[in-house]
Amino acid sequence: MFLVVLFFFCCTVPLSADELPYYVPSDNFAMDCSPSYSSEDFKSTSASEKKFNFSSVTRVYALDPHYRDVKPKDSACIFRKQFTYPFSVSIGPKFVRLYFKPITYSGLNLSKALFSVNIDRYRVLTTSESSYSKLPSDVSYFVREFCINTYSQILNVTFTPSSKISGAYAFFNKIEIVSMPSNLYIQENVPLPLIGQPSGYSMENSTALEMMYRLNIGGDLIPQPEDTGMFRLWTRDADYFASNEAGTSTIEAEVEIKSSLLAPTYAAPVQVYASARAVEDVSASKYSARWSFPVDFGFYYLVRLHFCEISRKIQKEGRRVFHVYINNQTAEDHADIFHWSHGVGIPISRDYVINFSRPGEGKKILSIAIASDNGSSAIHAGPILNGLEIFKLSDYFNNLAGNHPFGFGVRNLYLEYSEFKDYAEDHRVLIGAAHVLGWSVLAINFSLLFFTSLKF
Ligand SMILES: *[C@@H]1O[C@H](CO)[C@@H](O)[C@H](O)[C@H]1NC(C)=O
Ligand SMILES: *[C@@H]1O[C@H](CO)[C@@H](O)[C@H](O)[C@H]1NC(C)=O
Ligand SMILES: *[C@@H]1O[C@H](CO)[C@@H](O)[C@H](O)[C@H]1NC(C)=O
Ligand SMILES: *[C@@H]1O[C@H](CO)[C@@H](O)[C@H](O)[C@H]1NC(C)=O
Ligand SMILES: *[C@@H]1O[C@H](CO)[C@@H](O)[C@H](O)[C@H]1NC(C)=O
Ligand SMILES: *[C@@H]1O[C@H](CO)[C@@H](O)[C@H](O)[C@H]1NC(C)=O
Ligand SMILES: *[C@@H]1O[C@H](CO)[C@@H](O)[C@H](O)[C@H]1NC(C)=O
Repeated sequence: MFLVVLFFFCCTVPLSADELPYYVPSDNFAMDCSPSYSSEDFKSTSASEKKFNFSSVTRVYALDPHYRDVKPKDSACIFRKQFTYPFSVSIGPKFVRLYFKPITYSGLNLSKALFSVNIDRYRVLTTSESSYSKLPSDVSYFVREFCINTYSQILNVTFTPSSKISGAYAFFNKIEIVSMPSNLYIQENVPLPLIGQPSGYSMENSTALEMMYRLNIGGDLIPQPEDTGMFRLWTRDADYFASNEAGTSTIEAEVEIKSSLLAPTYAAPVQVYASARAVEDVSASKYSARWSFPVDFGFYYLVRLHFCEISRKIQKEGRRVFHVYINNQTAEDHADIFHWSHGVGIPISRDYVINFSRPGEGKKILSIAIASDNGSSAIHAGPILNGLEIFKLSDYFNNLAGNHPFGFGVRNLYLEYSEFKDYAEDHRVLIGAAHVLGWSVLAINFSLLFFTSLKF
C-alpha cells in the first residue's frame, strides 16, 4: 500500500465558446506553500496520516522588508531532512514546475538552503552557496520546468538537504504538475539533426528535459493561462536578442494563422506564430539576427524553432530563403518556410540537437542566428523567426542539475514573470466578470488538500 497525496488546485481555464483550449491535461494540479493554504491542509484527518510523518515539514513565513507592515505574503515549505511527495498521476509525460523564491525566511539563513531535488529517478536540481550570490533581488519566483515521462501512477518529488553542511535545509514554494500530449517534446527513435555532425541524435522515452528558454519572438509575453492548455509561459525575446547589425524589425501576421497536420494545434499558441522578428535588409551577406542563451556545460540541448510565413507578399516557395545557424554552424542552408509548410499562415516547427556534453565549468553560450543567403537579390524577403524553445536533455546518469539551479540571471525573464503574476490576478477577475455576463465559463476549484491511500 502506498500513501498518496491527492491534490486539486484552482485552475482558471478560460473556456469560451470560440476559444477552447487546444489540449486538456488529464493531470493538472499544484501544491502551494503560500499562507492562503492553511496549515490544517497539511494535517489531514485521513487514517493514513499517521504513516506520513509531516513533522519534518514546516511552513515558514518570509521576513520580506516590503511586507513588514502587512501580513506576510511569502511562505515556503521547509525540509530539514529528506522528504518525498508521492503525487498520484496518470501514466505518460508530465510537466513538473518547481517554484522557488530564495529569500530570507524567518529564522533561516539562505546560505544554508543547500539541497537537491529529484523527480522520480532524475536529479533535477542541486543548489550550492553560489546559487544565491548573483540572483536578482526583485524576483517574484524562479520557475524551473521539467518534462518527465512517468511509468507508474506515482510521481515522487524528493527534497534532500545537503548532508555535508550542518543546518542545511531544503525549500520550495509551489509544485505544479500538468500532463502533456505524448510526443510533444520527447519523441523516441525520431532522429533529429545533430548540429555539426553528419549523424542524427535520437532521444529515448527515458530522456527527461529541463526547459531553459521559451520565447515568443517579436511578440509579447504570453501568460500561462493563454497557452494551449499546458500553462507554459512564453517570454519576449528582447533580452536575448544579441545583434541588430541589419536593422531587424518585428512583424505582425498579414494572414490568418491556420492549423495543419504538420504541427499539432497545441504545439504553440497562435500568438507565437502571429508575430516574428525579421531581417529587413538582405542586400548584403552580413545581415543577420542573432539570439544568445547562456546554458550549462555538460549536456545535450534540444532547440525547437517555430516558423510561420505571415507575409501576404510571399506567394510561392523560393521567395524567402535563408540560413539558420546554431552556434555558428549551419542548421539549415536553405530554409524556405513556404516550401516546408506548403502555404502561408501554416505553422511548422523544426527540432535540432546540439552537443555541449563535454564537461566544463561555468556557462556556455548557445547562439541562434538567421541570415540572408549571401548575395541574395531584392526579390528575396529577409529571414524570419517566430518562436523558439530550448531544453536541456538529461544525461546518461539521469542528471539534469547544473551549476545554475535558478537560471542565468537574465533579469527580465523573472521580472516578466512577476508582471505575469499580477496579470494573472487581473485575468481571473476579468474572466469572472465575463462569466457573470455569460460570455465564458470559469472553472475554479479551490485547493482541497487531502491524503488518501491507494491499494495496488
Ligand atoms: C517524525 O519526525 C520527527 C522529527 O523529525 C521525529 O521526532 C518523530 O519521531 C517522527 N515520528 C515518527 C512516527 O516517525
Ligand atoms: C548567514 O550565513 C552566512 C555564512 O554562513 C553569514 O556570513 C551571515 O552573517 C549569516 N546571516 C545571518 C543573518 O545570520
Ligand atoms: C516512489 O517512492 C516509493 C516509496 O519510496 C517507491 O516505492 C516507488 O518505487 C517510487 N516510485 C518511483 C517511480 O520512483
Ligand atoms: C515510448 O513512448 C511512446 C509514446 O508514449 C510509446 O508509444 C512507446 O511504446 C514508448 N516506448 C517504450 C520503449 O516504452
Ligand atoms: C559566432 O560568431 C559570432 C560573430 O561572428 C562571434 O561573435 C561568436 O563568438 C561566434 N560564436 C561561436 C560559438 O563561435
Ligand atoms: C558529444 O560530445 C562529446 C564530447 O565532446 C563526445 O565525446 C561525444 O561523442 C559527442 N556525441 C556525439 C553523438 O557526437
Ligand atoms: C559573400 O559574397 C561576397 C561578395 O559577393 C563574397 O566576397 C563572400 O566571399 C561571400 N561569402 C560567402 C561565405 O560565400
